[in-house]
Amino acid sequence: MGKAILEVRDLTTKYITRFKEDVYAVDHVSFTVDEGRTLGIAGESGCGKSTLALSLMGYYFSPLYYTGGQILVDGRDITNMSPDEVRKNVLGTEVAYIPQAAMNALNPTAKIIRFIEDVIHAHDLKMSKKDIYDLARERFEILNLPSDVLQKHAVELSGGMKQRTVIAISTILSPKVLIADEPSSALDVSSQKLVIKMMYDLMRMGYIKSMIFITHELPLLYNVTDNIMVMYAGQIVESGTAKQMVFDPVHPYSKGLMNSIIVPEEGTRDVKLTAIPGTPPNLKNPPQGCRFAERCKYAQHLCHTSFVTMRRFGEVDPGLLGGEDEGDAVAERNRAYRCIVPIHELKAAYAEEDAARRRDKEAVSYE
Ligand SMILES: Nc1ncnc2c1ncn2[C@@H]1O[C@H](COP(=O)(O)OP(=O)(O)O)[C@@H](O)[C@H]1O
Ligand code: SF4
Ligand SMILES: [Mg+2]
Repeated sequence: MGKAILEVRDLTTKYITRFKEDVYAVDHVSFTVDEGRTLGIAGESGCGKSTLALSLMGYYFSPLYYTGGQILVDGRDITNMSPDEVRKNVLGTEVAYIPQAAMNALNPTAKIIRFIEDVIHAHDLKMSKKDIYDLARERFEILNLPSDVLQKHAVELSGGMKQRTVIAISTILSPKVLIADEPSSALDVSSQKLVIKMMYDLMRMGYIKSMIFITHELPLLYNVTDNIMVMYAGQIVESGTAKQMVFDPVHPYSKGLMNSIIVPEEGTRDVKLTAIPGTPPNLKNPPQGCRFAERCKYAQHLCHTSFVTMRRFGEVDPGLLGGEDEGDAVAERNRAYRCIVPIHELKAAYAEEDAARRRDKEAVSYE
């Protein structure tokens, strides 16, 4: 195991609306990202992914409030710092957050180099315009971005170039953690690949030490991240390696997310994708028991009444071997899920459903 760059323990944050209602958008979230590793966070819209990303910066302003937990960046707790200290000593240098649709928020009347000057000046770094330009040009060239972009305005750039430029601006001060919220969602496939490649280049070259990639598309994370967490209604419901989460999801919500995006093969177009019926609960008044219970086809009476916690697979089933070598076995034991149903029962139910779906597909393709 590498050195922990980001450690999040029981982080809880909420919005307080204009009508003084609490929205519990991040509820006791815990995870770690090690040096050189990438974490993917997946979940439907409204599950709290962006709020978690925003909360991870340790910089809170109305209507978002911190209510508990810790965020340690390279061993340093940023939750006990003043907002001014966080702004000067954390944002951009320790943690960089690229909000959803950030590329569309670039002021169209300013040249790209101005944004880089703003980032540097926000940290009170005394650098001349020439030094800033030289730093920016060198970084852009290393990242295969044409340096003439620095003198251009955002409107002159294509979507993919704009997004890569935003990433280059946000990481100019070499933060330890880069958090990118849906960085490729609005882009075509080839631009998506370039954006993802650039994020990896930043890590390979040592400009960033770890990365969090947020998306509503779980399978996209398979080739992009080492580990994946699935979020539902402000809570983590399952975490594991990218391979485990994409090919062998265990929580009924993760399984539903995977089933709802598998593209039907040719000749099977009449087979319905099994989207998860219903919508996530209102986080002003989250359910008492399992937050997924209203939509879960395996729900039992207890699911609606008992508080369901995250448990490691090794704790639920100490006999788990999970794979051919010891590394796989350790990874399997370290997986965690938030469900009261035993792992083997869920897996048996999925095996039956998957077999039935395959039979249906075959029947349709022969028609
Ligand atoms: N400014 C806000 N004020 C109040 N509630 C908000 C605000 N922004 C988001 N929320 C609520 O917080 C929850 C999580 O939203 P969000 O983090 O944007 O989810 P995601 O990124 O997964 O789509 C949702 O219920 C959403 O309605
Ligand atoms: S705890 Fe119950 S309702 Fe929640 S995911 Fe598990 S089976 Fe479904
Ligand atoms: Mg979002």
